[in-house]
Amino acid sequence: MAQKILIGVAWPYANGYQHLGHLAGAYLPPDTFARYQRLVGNDVLMVSGSDAHGTPITVRADQEGVPPREIFERYHQTFLDTYQQIGLTFDLFTHTDTENHHRVSQDIFLKILQNGYLYSEIQEQLYSPQEGRFLPDRYVEGICPHCGYPEARGDQCDNCGKLLEPTELIEPRSKASGDTALELRKTEHFFLDLPKLSGDLEDYLYDDKEHWRPNVLNFARNYVQSGLRGRPITRDIDWGIPLPLPGYEGKCLYVWFEAVIGYFSASIEWSKNRGTPDAWHEWWYNPEARTYYFIGKDNIPFHTVIWPAELLAIGQLYCDDCEADLNLPYDVPANEYLNFRGGKFSKSRGAAVDVPYFLSKYDPDPLRFYLTATAPETRDTEFSWEDFVERNNNELVATWGNLANRMLSFAYKRFDGRVPEPGDLDEADRELLAKVESGFETVGALYAACKFRAALNEALALAREANGYLDRKAPWFQIKEDKAAAATTVYVILRVVDNLKTILAPILPHTAQQLHEYLGYEGQLFGTQHVVEYQEETRSHAALTYNHSGAIGTWTVSELPPGQALRPPAPLFKKLDENVIEEEYARLEG
Ligand code: MF3
Ligand code: ZN
Repeated sequence: MAQKILIGVAWPYANGYQHLGHLAGAYLPPDTFARYQRLVGNDVLMVSGSDAHGTPITVRADQEGVPPREIFERYHQTFLDTYQQIGLTFDLFTHTDTENHHRVSQDIFLKILQNGYLYSEIQEQLYSPQEGRFLPDRYVEGICPHCGYPEARGDQCDNCGKLLEPTELIEPRSKASGDTALELRKTEHFFLDLPKLSGDLEDYLYDDKEHWRPNVLNFARNYVQSGLRGRPITRDIDWGIPLPLPGYEGKCLYVWFEAVIGYFSASIEWSKNRGTPDAWHEWWYNPEARTYYFIGKDNIPFHTVIWPAELLAIGQLYCDDCEADLNLPYDVPANEYLNFRGGKFSKSRGAAVDVPYFLSKYDPDPLRFYLTATAPETRDTEFSWEDFVERNNNELVATWGNLANRMLSFAYKRFDGRVPEPGDLDEADRELLAKVESGFETVGALYAACKFRAALNEALALAREANGYLDRKAPWFQIKEDKAAAATTVYVILRVVDNLKTILAPILPHTAQQLHEYLGYEGQLFGTQHVVEYQEETRSHAALTYNHSGAIGTWTVSELPPGQALRPPAPLFKKLDENVIEEEYARLEG
């Protein structure tokens, strides 16, 4: 039976271009997973959107002297463009400034308040007399009280990952003005009562988590066991979602409180858009559904503790006859970082490779290949142009692209543009076919377990087997003595290519489609993406959607029909010139 799979993808702050580290950490893996799940016939709902609010946006807006909305709209548009280019098949990629998201977030605030998991308290917050305003979150920097990192931000330490309050920072200073003469001033805020939820959170984090990545589970368990304190979920800031209560003008919901709600509100928006307003229940209330959250490691506390706490505190919402409460995350396969030049991608260090730039020069599938081959699943990994060129040429092209291209061209030229009719298969033929067909099991299990790098390695190992077989059979010699024997060899290889096309399709969807056509098939393996236009009344403008109807791809063994007419083949991938390396580094220096 088709399983419901909800795939939540971290909502990117719309305050800058995305770089390769973002793609590797949080955006590409869920698409690979979604495509695999769709091929096996499961019902995927993959949602995300631009994170429009909070200090990451307003700090940038202040720096440029423009309104926050301008920043958010600019970068939201770039996300839509690059995700389309690289083929991230979100069922809905929306943003947090829609009317829908505002309303759902406010309803959740009120529901949690009513359920007794919010309390209000007068708090002392940092205030800059010089700037005449409170300084929440990223408006403050200072020394991390946990690890001593000197550049910690008021919301979180980038070095140790711990969540912070600005008042916890040692020697706090204003990010905007550098002001160090900060005062503590009283202000009223609402707090999420984490201590009251900690028993339920422990039950959740100690129940059936064998499939979680150890680093994610350890972080979450440590966090909960270190003694949870109430966390303020409102801020003195005016760019965001207003509190739905009179008397709190000038305060908004904390960006993290509402951004995670996006998974839920986007599921509702998607259901509404397709005219089945209750469809989302199947992913959120059905206990058989599985919910996955793909994120980078800095997001771990929010997705393993804060969001589950919010879900527990809500219980049920927008549901008259639900038997269960809202589903908690089934898995949170967070990644470590993909670094560059010995640290994070960063403009100021001359170590920035933006995705829009990359895609203006290189094709999407080689990038997807590279980022999967070096995926930071268990530890930080390192991007370099040398490595990109090397893997492109020596793995993608040499091991996989050439195999497909050589045999397609050979068949096209020497067998009248058709899949040759095989004779009796010998042991080597059968062995290779069986081996490659077993990839549906072995590689499939790795995709299902979110081990994408291992899945790719396993698929490449199969391609290597096929290359060995091809060298031994050498159909280009066979054809001179025994055309029937050559026909069998070419048939076997084309069938292997057809199988590997499917097995690799979650990682290499564009070239899988090309191969599908070269092999003479009709139809689209995957569905289609398109952009939904701006709608004034709901502010739900320019969203990306995916339509699966009409997709014919399935996770099944090839039955390539002998005699099928091929289409004229062309190389799937380009070998890159070594000069690329120098050019790209020179560009960074320039
Ligand atoms: N905007 C955050 C970031 O880029 C991620 C938010 S994920 C969400 O790190 F779930 F909260 F939306
Ligand atoms: Zn720290």
